[in-house]
Amino acid sequence: MAEETQNISALMAEERTYPPDPEFTAQANAQPGFYDQDPDEFWEKEARERISWFTDFTKLKEWDRPHAKWYLGGRLNVCYNCVDRHVENGLGEKVAYYWEGEPVDDRLTITYADLQSRVVKAANAFKSLGIGKGTKVAVYLGMIPEAPVTLLALARLGAPFTFVFGGFSANALGSRMVEMECEYLITQDASNRRGKAAVLKSIADEAMDMAPTVRTCLTVKRTGSDVTMKDGRDQWWHDVVDGQSDDPASCPCEPMDAEDMFFLMFSSGTTGRPKGIVHTTAGYLVGVATTHYYVFDIKPDTVYWCAADIGWITGHSYIVFGPLANATTSIMYEGTPDFPDKDRWWDIIERYRANVLYTAPTSIRTHMKWGAEYAQRHDLSSLKVLGSVGEPINPEAWVWYRENIGGGRTPIVDTWWQTENGMILVTPLPGITTLKPGSATRPFPGVKAAVYDEEGNEITPGDGAGYMVVKEPWPAMFRTLYNDDERFKETYWQKFPDAYLAGDSARVDEDGDFWMMGRIDDVMNVSGHRLSTIEVESALVDHPEVAQAAVVSRADATTGQAIVAYVTLKEGAEGSTEKLTELRNHVGTVIGPIAKPANIVFSNELPMTRSGKIMRRLLKDVAENRELGDTTTLADPSVVEELKARSES
Ligand code: PRX
Repeated sequence: MAEETQNISALMAEERTYPPDPEFTAQANAQPGFYDQDPDEFWEKEARERISWFTDFTKLKEWDRPHAKWYLGGRLNVCYNCVDRHVENGLGEKVAYYWEGEPVDDRLTITYADLQSRVVKAANAFKSLGIGKGTKVAVYLGMIPEAPVTLLALARLGAPFTFVFGGFSANALGSRMVEMECEYLITQDASNRRGKAAVLKSIADEAMDMAPTVRTCLTVKRTGSDVTMKDGRDQWWHDVVDGQSDDPASCPCEPMDAEDMFFLMFSSGTTGRPKGIVHTTAGYLVGVATTHYYVFDIKPDTVYWCAADIGWITGHSYIVFGPLANATTSIMYEGTPDFPDKDRWWDIIERYRANVLYTAPTSIRTHMKWGAEYAQRHDLSSLKVLGSVGEPINPEAWVWYRENIGGGRTPIVDTWWQTENGMILVTPLPGITTLKPGSATRPFPGVKAAVYDEEGNEITPGDGAGYMVVKEPWPAMFRTLYNDDERFKETYWQKFPDAYLAGDSARVDEDGDFWMMGRIDDVMNVSGHRLSTIEVESALVDHPEVAQAAVVSRADATTGQAIVAYVTLKEGAEGSTEKLTELRNHVGTVIGPIAKPANIVFSNELPMTRSGKIMRRLLKDVAENRELGDTTTLADPSVVEELKARSES
């Protein structure tokens, strides 16, 4: 826990506070007294106010630990809630998305009526291909309008999906499709990335070779890049979608049970096999709509921008389903923040008069590195709330964000949650919370989060650090791991008899504010992306010349954590700069570019205990240039000294 201890002292030194501005409080959605509500009454009220039900639910929740059900008996459709009902309620002309392609001037304004028309056409096309209630579909798209359109069309038909982030490899996409037994895949030729085409279809082709259950693939033409179309399997999106009817009556929204599976999101755990996190329909939708409304203080005229990728849970919950359920106007941007120049984001905010920006600390630190002058070129006075998610935000980045982007006035909501949670769980509420840079502050109303010691006793405020847990179920909670309820129970519910184990360490200060301190397991967080050490090790030993690999993370000023790999090569192979590049690329091919190690250290041996376990703790000390910890259990202590020398050379 050496790293955690360092973090604690850094966080304890942080004493700046930012009380809410009374003017903001006067108009805020969450008013003082908000935390005093009874959790069950709160979740019942929000479900009725925020969501339209085809059949009302008869029971709020059932908790047969660790299995929860919410809104039992209720029937609803996510697409109806996100699109159709808004058009029926006279909001057809309201903008759903200001979509901005990466090439400058490639823009679209999509109203709720336009969105409905696109979704109905897509749903009719999907239906014509055989997709219906319960058909499993994989989605591998970039940030183009067809991404939300596809998810909404699948929701309309009641077809569960898994959206795989475009930065993942063929292997990652293929294994996810195999695990879910997907029958269809929706992808695009390539996406625009920093002025170049980043291919998706050819990766999808390789992935489909691994996943024989996929019988039809639809491809959106985005860049015009060359693709290979396989007869009988592959079709162009425009050939199948464009001629369809856009009359909503031609494709009614399928009434779904509250607990029907909505989607799967695969995420890294502590073993090499990603976990298929199961989200269901009603609880998820209520959870994301409610948190979106209060945390970002959404008003009818708010222009909101979550700058994540739809391929992550943040994008699902806070680019697509939460904002659309609340009939919000969102910005969606296809490309990178530095194309054509490093002020692209600020140009977008100025042009659309955005009121909310929600992003990750890594992005904030990148902008910090580029310098405030890029933001200063633009009028950012429309911003009212800034959000942060995905990793701990260091106080320096927090203050920079508020001063340089938020004009020294906007509240910053540092939101803590996970793929498993579906929705924000710990967060400030703008207008109520006194902010502290680096603290996610309080559990959202109706969320019973706590910090436990090793024995499962709740640590009292101000009394040290421990395990982040949640004591009661929350609506958007994942229901299980796909095809692996045992792993679900073991991973999250075994350590403590009465709480969900998040896998993070945290402390609660004297005021009751939470400070998140990073993972307690072998999960790394690189630029807000979650990866396990074992996943990267398996990718390395998959290379024919690698005998053994040990992977740790080290602190990094921009990406939060960076991956360091220690590799022993097989007899006859030589460590070299070329080999290093080859191994990095190999990891990129097996998992995806996000998993490429920042450093690889070649070594003849790795530090092992006498019982043959690799001592990661020592490797982490080496990676972070720390004094070596206890080496007495090592089989051969000289190994780490040699590694240290190699890392420094
Ligand atoms: O360690 C925590 C960190 O990200 C992990 C969850 O990753 P993922 O499932 O990919 O979801 C990320 C987006 C919701 C957590 O276990 N994390 C997330 N948000 C924060 C955070 N750590 C500190 N502060 C946060 N605000």
